Amino acid sequence: MSTYIIAITGASGAIYGIKLLDYMVRNGCKVYLTITKEGWYILKEEVGFFWEGGEDEINDAICKYYGVSVESLRYYKEDNLTAAIASGSVPTEGMIIVPCSMKTVASIACGFTSNLVSRAADVILKEKRRLIIVPREAPLNSIHLRNLLTLSEMGVHVIPAMPAFYNKPERIADMVDFIVGRILDGLYIENTLYKRWV
Ligand SMILES: Cc1cc2nc3c(=O)[nH]c(=O)nc-3n(C[C@H](O)[C@H](O)[C@H](O)COP(=O)(O)O)c2cc1C
Repeated sequence: MSTYIIAITGASGAIYGIKLLDYMVRNGCKVYLTITKEGWYILKEEVGFFWEGGEDEINDAICKYYGVSVESLRYYKEDNLTAAIASGSVPTEGMIIVPCSMKTVASIACGFTSNLVSRAADVILKEKRRLIIVPREAPLNSIHLRNLLTLSEMGVHVIPAMPAFYNKPERIADMVDFIVGRILDGLYIENTLYKRWV
């Protein structure tokens, strides 16, 4: 069973994170999930997802929603720095931060590991594992661009939340699938989520 970390932060585009999570848990991956405080806010605003309570209660609720066991999907709060994914000794294939706010981009680029998302990403980088970020902001200032370049130069796969139009999307779901499909491509996970250019 391949194991991945998915982090959802407080940038617009929470739907991308939810779609990726959905795809992975339904296709046999084990997922460690963490969501920042702002990430939860945007999830509620944009997608209507809302779970309250302690870490274990939220974990149970999410597992129930997806119909999977805690062995397949483990949720951690962003302030839980004792979580498994805060240590490089816990093996994973990689991490995807989707959507990724400019604050989280900055904290990873600076090595400022103030929450579980930036710590887990720091671990992924030090262990030379695969890190994919899906940044979303517009317009981008020079600080954003410099931080993204710093990460790219370290081997981070930057897949901006920029859906294409050459595949003629008809619904929002088609645009979401395009980005999620590109993330899966970046992880070398075969998928037919979007129409490719032939
Ligand atoms: C409705 C709303 C939309 C936001 N959209 C973005 C966005 O697209 N990109 C971004 O970088 N920040 C966005 N922000 C700001 C972030 O949520 C804020 O910088 C937050 O501190 C990020 O924290 P986090 O990275 O720990 O989740 C948005 C905030 C709100 C309230």
